Amino acid sequence: MSSSHYSREQDFWDKKGVDAYVSLSAFDQERILRWIGPRSNERRCLDLGGGSGMTGRLLTTTGVPFLVCMDISAEMLRHSGLLSVQGDALKLPFANDSFDLIVAAAFLHHVPGRESEVLRECARILAPNGRIVGYDPNARSLQNRVFMGDGRLRLSTFSPDERPIDPRVLCGKLGAEGFANASSTVFSFRNPKLTPFEAIQRYALDPMSIGPLRNWLQRWFFWSATKS
Ligand SMILES: C[S@@+](CC[C@H](N)C(=O)[O-])C[C@H]1O[C@@H](n2cnc3c(N)ncnc32)[C@H](O)[C@@H]1O
Repeated sequence: MSSSHYSREQDFWDKKGVDAYVSLSAFDQERILRWIGPRSNERRCLDLGGGSGMTGRLLTTTGVPFLVCMDISAEMLRHSGLLSVQGDALKLPFANDSFDLIVAAAFLHHVPGRESEVLRECARILAPNGRIVGYDPNARSLQNRVFMGDGRLRLSTFSPDERPIDPRVLCGKLGAEGFANASSTVFSFRNPKLTPFEAIQRYALDPMSIGPLRNWLQRWFFWSATKS
């Protein structure tokens, strides 16, 4: 990733910040909270790449005592309504062992090729036994290969730098950066708006998504690991 990454990615999200950001359906909110919501012993939570605070606000409904939303885009953060810090995930502006939980919702795939550096920073600021969780587009998904890849069919709605991630590769990187119990599971969001993308997923791919085929047909994956 070239140094232009920062200006391009920040520009894209600063512009997006002035529009309303996507919202999750009630079904997705419920399962996302189940996957990434703080456990009772997780009192300090970082919403990494938290943008306009959609996920962070959802996390606060669990009563977590302390939550910080951090993002590279000041414009996105302006909409968060949360305690917010502008910064770069490659150099996290927090002391060692500051958090019990880091949530990286739809974030890590925005730093392609530099995931390990971000994970190293996360391991530094997480307390021992702290948890890191997130979700990202699945690089094995057929839809993502076509529409999020570098070919002519790449959709312009994606930010210039975002690229899907292979769950197996990410689990390997988590292990290499000192995390234990790395695991992942594929899924697809249920967008209430029936975009062509959503229609293909719901009516063609989901019904075929049985057994190992899921890995090629589901667009997203949820992942988690613990600081060992
Ligand atoms: C798809 S949005 C996800 C926002 C939020 N997590 C959510 O669930 O709504 C990706 C976010 O990553 C942020 N981002 C991209 N590169 C970043 C970096 N190097 N450091 C921190 N944030 C970054 C963008 O500004 C954007 O807000």
